Amino acid sequence: MQIISSASKLKELLRKEQGSIGFVPTMGALHEGHLTLIKESKKHNDIIVVSIFVNPTQFLKGEDLEKYPRRDEADKKICEIAGVDYLFMPSAEEIYGDDEPMIQAPQVRGYILEGATRPGHFSGVLSVVMKLLNIVDPSRAYFGKKDAQQLFLIEQMARSYFLDVEIVPVDTVRESDGLALSSRNVYLSDAQRQEALKIPASLNLARSLITQGILDTEEITTQMKKVLSPLQIEYVVVVSRNFEYQKRVEIGNSIILVEVLVGTTRLLDNIWV
Ligand code: PAJ
Repeated sequence: MQIISSASKLKELLRKEQGSIGFVPTMGALHEGHLTLIKESKKHNDIIVVSIFVNPTQFLKGEDLEKYPRRDEADKKICEIAGVDYLFMPSAEEIYGDDEPMIQAPQVRGYILEGATRPGHFSGVLSVVMKLLNIVDPSRAYFGKKDAQQLFLIEQMARSYFLDVEIVPVDTVRESDGLALSSRNVYLSDAQRQEALKIPASLNLARSLITQGILDTEEITTQMKKVLSPLQIEYVVVVSRNFEYQKRVEIGNSIILVEVLVGTTRLLDNIWV
């Protein structure tokens, strides 16, 4: 595995490679969720590129940019063992210039839900993903369904900007007790971690209500909120796969999304039904 910090160097090396390139962009502090993306990418591509870059433009003022977990040495070992060919770890200066063009998240779908609690966040995500895709120029890029809105906006950007890349969604990886893996889980105390289990519990309830034929959004989300109480709920909603609010669940075309604060830690989860 080669560890590269220069974008032009990585471009030059990748140009010489034969075969398909699979790309997994991350912010590091790698866990089993990230590893699953890497494994998926290895199944279908010849060359595997992972990036680790804690992207400053997707953090709002006052968010956890400074304290976001950084585990460079452990992450390098994980990538090496996982069979990654190129690990791209650029500095912020390597990626961003001064006063430069940025991608704007769409006015509606980029500013609802997580985009409403974190206005501007998705413009930062889309800008960095555009830059990373241009550097790596992969055949396929892998993103988790756990960040459903992010995945949707990246798929939309790839279409809108005629990018020559296949965006591949990967199912959410969970702990054995159901909590979705996230780099931010390390912020949780033991007691908070227990409280956080209300999130998968609420989603499981939604699934069982749907199995019983209850498809009314209001009814489902009201019951979910009872399970989540007393956690601070940012939103509990049902949207279509196209991120339009739905009054009724449509099997095969709905995503149920939850965002709550556990202490000061923002946790996201969802199920695709
Ligand atoms: P990060 O939070 O490090 O996540 C990197 C990728 O791993 C994302 O596609 C995310 O959806 C996926 N992922 C995280 N937890 C997962 C889980 N439990 N199961 C499956 N996949 C999971 O998302 C970002 O970084 C950044 O916004 C990024 C896209 C890299 C742009 O900076």
